Amino acid sequence: MTSYTVLSLVFILVSAIVAKLYLKLITGWCRSQQCMVGKTAIITGANTGIGFQTALDFAKRGARVILACRNYKKAEAARRDIIKMTDNPNVFVKIVDMSSFESVRAFAQEINKTEDRLDVLVNNAAAAFLYDEKTKDGLLLGMQVNYFSLFLLTNLLLDLLKKSQPSRIVNTSSLLAEYGTAFSVDKLHKYNGNFDLYTHSKLAIILFTKELAKRLEGSGVTVYSVHPGAVKTDIFRDAEGWAGSFMTALFKRWMNFFFKTSEEGAQTTIYCAVEKNIEKFSGHHFVDCRRVNDYKRATVPGLGEQLWRESAECVMDWCTTIVSLILGALLAFKIYLRLTIGWCKNQTCLVGKTTIVTGANTGIGFETALDFAKRGARVILACRDQKRADDATKKIIRETGNENVVVKLVDMASFESVRAFAKEINETEHPAMDCLC
Ligand SMILES: NC(=O)c1ccc[n+]([C@@H]2O[C@H](COP(=O)([O-])OP(=O)(O)OC[C@H]3O[C@@H](n4cnc5c(N)ncnc54)[C@H](OP(=O)(O)O)[C@@H]3O)[C@@H](O)[C@H]2O)c1
Repeated sequence: MTSYTVLSLVFILVSAIVAKLYLKLITGWCRSQQCMVGKTAIITGANTGIGFQTALDFAKRGARVILACRNYKKAEAARRDIIKMTDNPNVFVKIVDMSSFESVRAFAQEINKTEDRLDVLVNNAAAAFLYDEKTKDGLLLGMQVNYFSLFLLTNLLLDLLKKSQPSRIVNTSSLLAEYGTAFSVDKLHKYNGNFDLYTHSKLAIILFTKELAKRLEGSGVTVYSVHPGAVKTDIFRDAEGWAGSFMTALFKRWMNFFFKTSEEGAQTTIYCAVEKNIEKFSGHHFVDCRRVNDYKRATVPGLGEQLWRESAECVMDWCTTIVSLILGALLAFKIYLRLTIGWCKNQTCLVGKTTIVTGANTGIGFETALDFAKRGARVILACRDQKRADDATKKIIRETGNENVVVKLVDMASFESVRAFAKEINETEHPAMDCLC
C-alpha cells in the first residue's frame, strides 16, 4: 500500500468521523420533562422503528398508549417490550390496516366507543417502495397507506380530540416531500414510479397539516408535520428490483453509519407531542425539534384546499352517504306532508246536534267521533263489533267528558243490518239527525 493510499484512507476515515460527529451534534433531542399521566396517545405503525420509540417514550411518561398496527403478533411483541421496559401496564394493541378504509373506519369507531379521551394522535405508519397497485378502495396503494388513510383516520377522531383539548396531532412526513416531480392533485391517482409516490404522499401530509391547522383554529387541537431525519429502520422492507436493492444497500450498509437511530429519529415527533408553548406554530413543519420554513412545494396558494376537497371525495363512504341521503329525503318528505296537511279550523260548537259516525271504533272514524264529542254533540258510533265500539266509547267519554256517546251496531256487509240500523235511528233519533259520516 503506498503512502498516498494510506493518507487517502485516513482522510476518508477522519472525514466520516467528523461528519458523524457533526450529525450527532445537530440531532435534535426533545428535552421536555412533560409527564403524560392521565393522557391517551395513539401511534400508528408503533410496532417498530420511529413509531415504536415514540410509543416507548409516551409510556415512560405515564400515558395510556395505543399501538395502532396491522400485524397483531408484531404489535403484541412491541407491547410486551414496552411494558417490560417502562413498567407501565397501560399499553394496548388495536388493529388497523392503513391500506383499507374499512379497517380505518372500524378502528376509529372502536376508539370513539371505548376511549373517553384522546390527547395525542401520531400518524406515523407509512411504507416506502410500494408499486403500481390499487387497493380495494380503488386508490394507489402507497397513496392510501401513507396519506388517504391518515386523512380519514384523523377526521374520524377529530371529535374525540376536540373533546380532550388541548390535544395534538403529529403527522410524520419527510424532507423528500420537496423532491420528485412537480405535484398536483391529479398525481394522487397516477403512478409515476415509487419515488414520486412516496414523495407526493409526504407532500400531501404537509399540505393536509397546514389546511387542518386552519380548520382547527380556536378548537384547542393543534397539528404539526415532522421530518424525522434519515433513520436506520426497516422502511425499505418492500423494496424490489435494482432500485430497491440499491436503496436497501445504501440505507442498511453503506450509509448506515451516518443515519440516526430510531430513538433519535423519534425525537421530533415526541417534541411536537409534548413540548410546551408550541401551539402558536400549529400547521408548521418541524425538523430536529426545531420549526423550519415551509418547503417551497408546500406554499402553492390554494393547493391545500384543493387537496382537501379531493381527499374528502376519495375517502367518502358512498354506502353511508347514499343511505343518509335516502333517510334525509324521506324525512324531508314527511315534514312536507306534515306542513301541507289540511286542518279543519272551524270552531262551531255542536251542542244539541246528533251525529252518526260509521266505523268509529278506530282510526279516522274514531278521531272524527272524538272531535264531535269534544264539540258537545250527541255521537252515535255505528260499528259492527260491540266490544271494540264500547272500548272506543269509553275512551271518548274519558277524554272529552261528554257522556252523550252511544254505540249502535251496524254491519255494512249486510243490507238487512243497514236497514235495521236506519230504522232504529229514524224511530229513536228523528228529527234531530244533523250529521252522518
Ligand atoms: N426512516 C427514515 O429514514 C424516514 C425518513 C423520513 C420519514 N420517515 C417516516 O417515518 C415514519 C416511520 O417510518 P420508519 O422509518 O420507522 O419505518 P418502519 O420501521 O418501516 O415503520 C413503519 C411502520 O408503519 C407500519 N405500516 C406500514 N404499512 C402499514 C399499513 N398498511 N397499515 C398499518 N401500518 C402499516 C409498519 O407496520 P409493519 O411492521 O406491520 O410493516 C411499521 O410499523 C414513516 O411515516 C416514514 O415515512 C422515515
